[in-house]
Amino acid sequence: MALEIKNLKVEVEDQLIVKGIDLTIKPGEIHALMGRNGSGKTTLAKALMGHPKYSIVEGQIILDGEDITELPPNERAKKGLFMSFQYPVEIPGVNFANFLRQAYRSIHEDEKREKVPTPQEEMLEALKFRNMLKSKLKLVDLPESFLDRYLNEGFSGGEKKRAEILQLAVLQPKYAILDETDSGLDIDALRVVANAIKQMADETRGYLIITHYQRILSYIEPDYVHVMMNGKIVKSGGKDLAHELEKHGYAWIEKEISQ
Ligand SMILES: Nc1ncnc2c1ncn2[C@@H]1O[C@H](COP(=O)(O)OP(=O)(O)OP(=O)(O)O)[C@@H](O)[C@H]1O
Ligand SMILES: [Mg+2]
Repeated sequence: MALEIKNLKVEVEDQLIVKGIDLTIKPGEIHALMGRNGSGKTTLAKALMGHPKYSIVEGQIILDGEDITELPPNERAKKGLFMSFQYPVEIPGVNFANFLRQAYRSIHEDEKREKVPTPQEEMLEALKFRNMLKSKLKLVDLPESFLDRYLNEGFSGGEKKRAEILQLAVLQPKYAILDETDSGLDIDALRVVANAIKQMADETRGYLIITHYQRILSYIEPDYVHVMMNGKIVKSGGKDLAHELEKHGYAWIEKEISQ
């Protein structure tokens, strides 16, 4: 059981951005991925999720023994993969609660459904789901009124990040890639969101947390910290590596690898 990334190379707009990444994330593990702006972290995350613009030119992605390299994003999601966006997009016209319900259904329910539910059953289910959403909203400290708004439309930067974590809490994926969830959160919100993630990061789930700052990692202790530079992981270590980066920046690693 693991999410295995094997010699992954990713091209965007005919440019090689991710230049051979090997990384294995097992259930129960938290990996942090750090690195300068433009080093390829988001490109790696999007390629893992199956964004059509990011083409995998070499390598494989294996999820619990199954090769998912060629699968479309929704199939990857069904198999338990999730990604939260660094820049969540606003989708006017798509009601947030409906979006969550559809996403939940398409991941957890569709094949199990043997018969068409009666209107009463439908209503009961909708009610149950709404109650579940309410409890998850508390976890990320968003008011219930958000459920009746359009997806991310007019959400503040921090609210968008909370909305991403709400999706994580609702969908309960086995492997989650969180792309800079901590950027744009105020001090209290960071604690709330970090604790929410921590609660969900149990021994059955694996996390890849992309971040620039040590701060979120003081709440969610990573087992491994990786540094990405120019499309490659150039250094891996324990949580202390994040502290070192915070103190000294990246230049010393550059020096180390050029020797
Ligand atoms: N859709 C795209 N079209 C053109 N170039 C792209 C595209 N996506 C990524 N790139 C380029 O790939 C490189 C890596 O970008 P990426 O977003 O992966 O970096 P990052 O490590 O996530 O940076 P940051 O820390 O700023 O979020 C950048 O030079 C970027 O301009
Ligand atoms: Mg990025």
